Amino acid sequence: MKIQDKIALITGGTKGIGLGIAESMLEEGMKVAITGRSQDSIDKALSGFPENQRPNIIGVVADVTSMEDMQSAVGQTVNKWGQIDVVIANAGVGHFASIEDLTADQWKQTIDINLTGVFNTVKTSLDAIKKTEGYFITVASLAGTNFFAKGAAYNASKFGLVGFTQAMMLDLRQYGIKCSTIMPGSVSTHFNNNTPSDSGAWKIQPEDIGQMTIDLLKMHPRTLPSKIEVRPTMPPGSKK
Ligand SMILES: NC(=O)c1ccc[n+]([C@@H]2O[C@H](COP(=O)([O-])OP(=O)(O)OC[C@H]3O[C@@H](n4cnc5c(N)ncnc54)[C@H](OP(=O)(O)O)[C@@H]3O)[C@@H](O)[C@H]2O)c1
Repeated sequence: MKIQDKIALITGGTKGIGLGIAESMLEEGMKVAITGRSQDSIDKALSGFPENQRPNIIGVVADVTSMEDMQSAVGQTVNKWGQIDVVIANAGVGHFASIEDLTADQWKQTIDINLTGVFNTVKTSLDAIKKTEGYFITVASLAGTNFFAKGAAYNASKFGLVGFTQAMMLDLRQYGIKCSTIMPGSVSTHFNNNTPSDSGAWKIQPEDIGQMTIDLLKMHPRTLPSKIEVRPTMPPGSKK
């Protein structure tokens, strides 16, 4: 199947990496459904797309922590375009605090969104992806392999997500379904209350992850990069 015939569902597509992936997919002619937690954030994201691409994108209010919301997002995508070929489980948050200060609410929100949210996303879209022999891509982090102080909740969620994706990859590849986890270092987004600016030009940009996703989708069906670490080439303090 040509890439322009593929349909994607992206969780957390209203800004940052998810939005960058949506933009790259639309440029390739794909059709995309994005989710976010509020109609406002969805409307804002959709209004940023050029007029000629608007027929190829829909936004669905759906919180990944809710199985019902994700069922509805999958249902609305299939109703609109008949199938789902690619699911990008991207929605995520970060709370960074020493275990002494980390609250039970911060722990719960991190695990609920970053880990259980991906489980909900995969479980609700699995039947659709089986039908198309499609592709699951999860957005983990280098924090899924490198631990650091104040990272207890985030590290736990992303180490868990890397393990989850690798295990389901082994479960699903026998059906011709691909699963990859992308593990980025610093990306210039709104993550952790950051505001993208010129001072973040050294970071990976959302469109770079978008391009990487397109490259994965174009890869030959027989070959599967299952775990992808990606980092800024020149972090602050580099010699060049
Ligand atoms: N930025 C980095 O340096 C970096 C590095 C490695 C990995 N990551 C990972 O990349 C992913 C995307 O983060 P980002 O950097 O693009 O951050 P971002 O700019 O803050 O975007 C986060 C996205 O997730 C959505 N979201 C959050 N909670 C949600 C929920 N419960 N249900 C549905 N959507 C939800 C947000 O949508 P609404 O606000 O509209 O609900 C937004 O679209 C995360 O999993 C993050 O851990 C980021």
